Amino acid sequence: MDFKIKKATPEKTKTDALVLPVFEGNVLGSCCDHFSDATKKALNAVMANGDIKGKPGDSLVLTAVADSVAKRIILIGLGKAGEQTESAVRKAFSAAANAVNGTSAKDAVLALDDIQLENRDTQWLTRQAVELFAYANYTFNAFKSKDNHKQLALKKLTFLTTVDSKGVESGIKSGAAIANGMCYTRDLGNTPPNICNPTYLAQEAKKLARECKALTTTVLDEKAMKALGMGALLSVGNGSDTPSRLIVMEYKGGPKNQSPHVLVGKGITFDTGGISLKPAPDMDAMKWDMCGAASVFGTMRAVIDMALPMNVVGVVAAAENMPSGKASRPGDIVTTMSGQTVEILNTDAEGRLVLCDALTYVERFKPASVVDIATLTGAIIVALGPFASGLMSNSEEVVENLQAAADYTQDKVWRLPLWDEYQALLDSPFADIGNIGNAGPKAGSITAACFLSRFTKAYPWAHLDVAGSAFNGGANKGATGRPVPLLTEYLLRQVKA
Ligand code: BES
Ligand code: MN
Ligand code: ZN
Repeated sequence: MDFKIKKATPEKTKTDALVLPVFEGNVLGSCCDHFSDATKKALNAVMANGDIKGKPGDSLVLTAVADSVAKRIILIGLGKAGEQTESAVRKAFSAAANAVNGTSAKDAVLALDDIQLENRDTQWLTRQAVELFAYANYTFNAFKSKDNHKQLALKKLTFLTTVDSKGVESGIKSGAAIANGMCYTRDLGNTPPNICNPTYLAQEAKKLARECKALTTTVLDEKAMKALGMGALLSVGNGSDTPSRLIVMEYKGGPKNQSPHVLVGKGITFDTGGISLKPAPDMDAMKWDMCGAASVFGTMRAVIDMALPMNVVGVVAAAENMPSGKASRPGDIVTTMSGQTVEILNTDAEGRLVLCDALTYVERFKPASVVDIATLTGAIIVALGPFASGLMSNSEEVVENLQAAADYTQDKVWRLPLWDEYQALLDSPFADIGNIGNAGPKAGSITAACFLSRFTKAYPWAHLDVAGSAFNGGANKGATGRPVPLLTEYLLRQVKA
């Protein structure tokens, strides 16, 4: 999808769909002042009819509006005039995108100037619109027959402004990079697990390196990982016929000796649970257990698109968790690259096993910060639902930076503690640590993060548990592309700092 800017008021704009904000209490935006009396009368009559109340999420498609050069006018509700909130604006943009997609409009024009938030500038507003229109415009047809493809007509969205075209331009630039990154993340996530396996992810990383001079990809095979002593990571893939991979993407956009920010993604391309087998219902959802890895790919894509002048390393720990005669058993003890031994009490707690060795591996980069992203626990879905990613960290600074990026992007996070009391739950009578907490399911997301924290003492680190935010189950099944907006904004802010 293309995003453009036009410095004009709406009355002369020829388009398939002109999207206009309206407000509660039958209030048209001031950009409507420029319309002819006939058009104004028509719009006011619609408002007076009560067919649209102006609440966020409301939309109404009008065709053949008197004296209008636009084929359609789509009214979208934005709540009370002058009282817009972030969530209301996001809801309105999603509703607008879906309303446009409900028509055969190939292009749309969005009048921005009447939408104002107290603490948000035009760049913010534009970026939100770009992300939400791109989100609604996403289709995944790769595995459908041609005659079964979902087709959306919309190809271009133009922003109308007479106020702040610089802000719109920068919003389009960063917004499109983030939206493309999200789209890539969603594609990787949605690709079925018989195709998207560790080898496939490694090939994607090599493809990125071919497309971008500043990016180098190194892939560690099982032999290389064995030589490094990655006994935990390797144990997860033991039961699978597709071998594990550690994928390392080094983006060098900054000075040679500048320490990089490192992203580490959980890339379990399918999680059956292993010998601790998961129940059958909804097990297909475990193809999304590589969404953390997919978000690393999507963020690298955005970083490349924006040619960020900084160093970023993206690492993906890729494995398939299968039961077999070769699979690890509950009770097995493995030695990690760090030297610490782990008693595998539940083979379904495999994410932390692949991540711990990847987290030790990245010490070699002397990172400025490390953020790992993982669909790590069902417990985080119980705690936060789909709205926020769980955040756990050993660094107040990284937390503040991630929280600021989350607030700006509305790709939300919520912090949970890593107190010593929780750490004690990982004690094992036979090894240095167990791979699950010994208090059963209590504080499952925190004990998982406590496990990771044993491997991240060498650098400022944060863990994002995205099991609830990275994909949707149910009727609207699919990868969401989160937390690409958060991660990209986090990195963008390190450039400015
Ligand atoms: N991949 C799952 C977590 C998950 C569950 C992600 C649901 C998305 C949706 C993870 O590997 C897992 O199985 N975690 C276990 C941990 C338990 C065995 C301590 C869980 O959450 O039940
Ligand atoms: Mn699991
Ligand atoms: Zn998993």
